Amino acid sequence: MNVVVSVGGSVLSPGDPERVAAHAAVIEALRDAGHEVSVVVGGGATALEYIGVARELGANEMKLDEIGIAATRLNARLLIEALGDAAVQTPPETYEGAGEALRRGEVAVMGGVAPAQTTDAVSAALAEYVDADLLVYGTSVAGVYTADPNETDDAEHIPELSAADLVERIAGIEMNAGAAAPVDLLAAKVIQRSGLRTIVLDGTDPERIRRAVLTGEHEGTDVLPANGGADPDGWDADSAAVDGPDE
Ligand code: UTP
Repeated sequence: MNVVVSVGGSVLSPGDPERVAAHAAVIEALRDAGHEVSVVVGGGATALEYIGVARELGANEMKLDEIGIAATRLNARLLIEALGDAAVQTPPETYEGAGEALRRGEVAVMGGVAPAQTTDAVSAALAEYVDADLLVYGTSVAGVYTADPNETDDAEHIPELSAADLVERIAGIEMNAGAAAPVDLLAAKVIQRSGLRTIVLDGTDPERIRRAVLTGEHEGTDVLPANGGADPDGWDADSAAVDGPDE
């Protein structure tokens, strides 16, 4: 299948080469299994640090976003190095560029593209652009919850919801300043309009991303299109056929 993997900057952990290499190994394993893979990488701690310093220096929001985009592309370059020749050697700055890489059989690793959004939206837009069968968000939380699990013990995990429910839920969260949304509102809206089959999961262990793409099994949240969405090809296969450690 054609899959877009969104790797949160906090999940990639640029300070930890083994973690970056582990994410690259999962992308290679998915390609070895016959899947087409494109990747989007977030800014994580690097973006936060630079944005924080620039804000204190008086930079406006537009400039802060440009700094954030630069940080996402820096992180993308680490994953590119770990992937070696399989990857386009610079992060494509447009969806067209990433799409061309896919047609050449290469892995595009994108960062951000434009201010006033995050890489959540880039991932959804790229998935729509390349007509992906599946979009997987590897984030630092284990899917979608009824509330922010870092803020309240009452937060309940939601294993499955419709794209319309996701939009509604995130619109509510984003009106509460400071509350963390699992993906941003623009991303949710693109997921809804495109009917993208989407999984949000804890990507700190990249093995979970591999298992989710190969088998459809995960402990995160399935976001289903309005028509319910058929399972992508290959998910019927016995998950025992997938080698690698069990969760
Ligand atoms: P991230 O996508 O890492 O945002 O981009 P985030 O929400 O802080 O991180 P996650 O989703 O929790 O991992 C870092 C910053 O880069 C800018 C924004 O300022 C964002 O906060 N950015 C990123 C853009 O302006 N446009 C983009 O397309 C991507």
